[in-house]
Amino acid sequence: MQIREIMKASPVMPVIVVERVEQAVPLARALVAGGIKVLEVTLRTDAALDAVKRIAAEVPEAIVGVGTVTRPEQFAAAKAAGAAFAVTPGLTSQLANAASGAGLPLLPGVMTPSEVIAARAAGFDAMKLFPAEQAGGIGMLKALAGPFPEVLFCPTGGVTLDLASHYLALANVGCVGGSWLAPKDKLAAGDWAAITRLAAEAAQLRR
Ligand code: 3PG
Repeated sequence: MQIREIMKASPVMPVIVVERVEQAVPLARALVAGGIKVLEVTLRTDAALDAVKRIAAEVPEAIVGVGTVTRPEQFAAAKAAGAAFAVTPGLTSQLANAASGAGLPLLPGVMTPSEVIAARAAGFDAMKLFPAEQAGGIGMLKALAGPFPEVLFCPTGGVTLDLASHYLALANVGCVGGSWLAPKDKLAAGDWAAITRLAAEAAQLRR
């Protein structure tokens, strides 16, 4: 599945931090039950790759990928765990090569026009604007649409449910990313019903 297809599959890409591998499958099921099937599991915890492995094996409706990829060797490990895509907070040629070597579709992070140009030159036409709010948010995306009309963005960082509807109204936004769908306290409490409700709210957002 290509990155643009993945961006179309869900208006919001939840940014997930899994502390305990036992949380992975119930969390994924809770999000899918609410209508959110694209999941970004960040490689920020020891449990992350095992979480991806379990979700890929046990929640076939989910499209699970990895996020916070900052080192080239992480792509092969993510692919082996069953990840369908990868997200990086920025882009280097080493990361681009490693993603393509591992056969993982990549959504690379950018924050400036020079970085958009570099990512275009590396063959990407879909990018994560990160950190979106700090980079200028909606005003920044409108400005980027002038020189880069062909680039589709996934703004992430500081995005809330309220802001998401404004971002999704922009023609150059394919989806948004955010951590609000899997809050730390709800995960720790195993409050899957609350996570399904958050997912259902997000799934209703329209592009
Ligand atoms: C992150 O890196 O954690 C993501 O950008 C999510 O940011 P958020 O917590 O502001 O949604």
